[in-house]
Amino acid sequence: MSEPIPPLCAGNWKAHGDAELITDWASVMGTPDTDVVLCPPHPLLLEAVAVLGDKIAVGAQDVATHGPANQTGNTTAELVASCGVQWTLIGHSERRAMGETDADVAAKLDQAVKAGLKPILCIGESLDQREANQLEAVLTTQLAGALAEKEIPQDLVVAYEPVWAIGTGVAASAEQAQEACKLVRQLLEKYSAGARIRILYGGSVKANNAAELMAQPDINGLLVGGASLEPEAFAAITTAVANS
Ligand code: PGA
Repeated sequence: MSEPIPPLCAGNWKAHGDAELITDWASVMGTPDTDVVLCPPHPLLLEAVAVLGDKIAVGAQDVATHGPANQTGNTTAELVASCGVQWTLIGHSERRAMGETDADVAAKLDQAVKAGLKPILCIGESLDQREANQLEAVLTTQLAGALAEKEIPQDLVVAYEPVWAIGTGVAASAEQAQEACKLVRQLLEKYSAGARIRILYGGSVKANNAAELMAQPDINGLLVGGASLEPEAFAAITTAVANS
């Protein structure tokens, strides 16, 4: 029998943070009792790897759709991996809002896997889509866009992040999150064939809603934005994840 896979708590600093916050994080977090990934902005990746050592993994927030190219400002998955980074977010809704397409997401996933990075694929519906009863259609399209016609990466993680809950302070209820994550798991069955896929919930996760979200059977971890900028809050969320 295979080992049970531990829940995962990931922090996404977006375009925030500095070297001092990495140091604070390291001292508050100590050695977590579950898998933890910090995704700081690219210029802080090397520093995060050096300071967090082997206790906390480091992830990028994005990688380029391609290998080395004359594309000013882009960062390839290979370069990210060369910093000692193990993970990357792919397809975050804030990047999709800047014009990233499903084809871009699929290309980034390929680049990440080729470079040996473990991908956290982000999917989720807007409020309009939810209100129009398009939840299943949106998740199906986003998963198919990213995963169709490829072997599912062994370490793939999927983060369900409803766009209306990100950065708004209004998290999905535990029931809404469970319903959508269960749907994601059902949709993944079409692709996964035995891959061990953790499904995270993300969107206004705080210390006071983490335990209830983690009590849901189809939620295997959390992706945390704003609250990851406060080391104490993130440590409390990690404890809720570890204790689930
Ligand atoms: P939030 O962000 O926790 O600030 O809502 C989540 C995310 O964007 O991953």
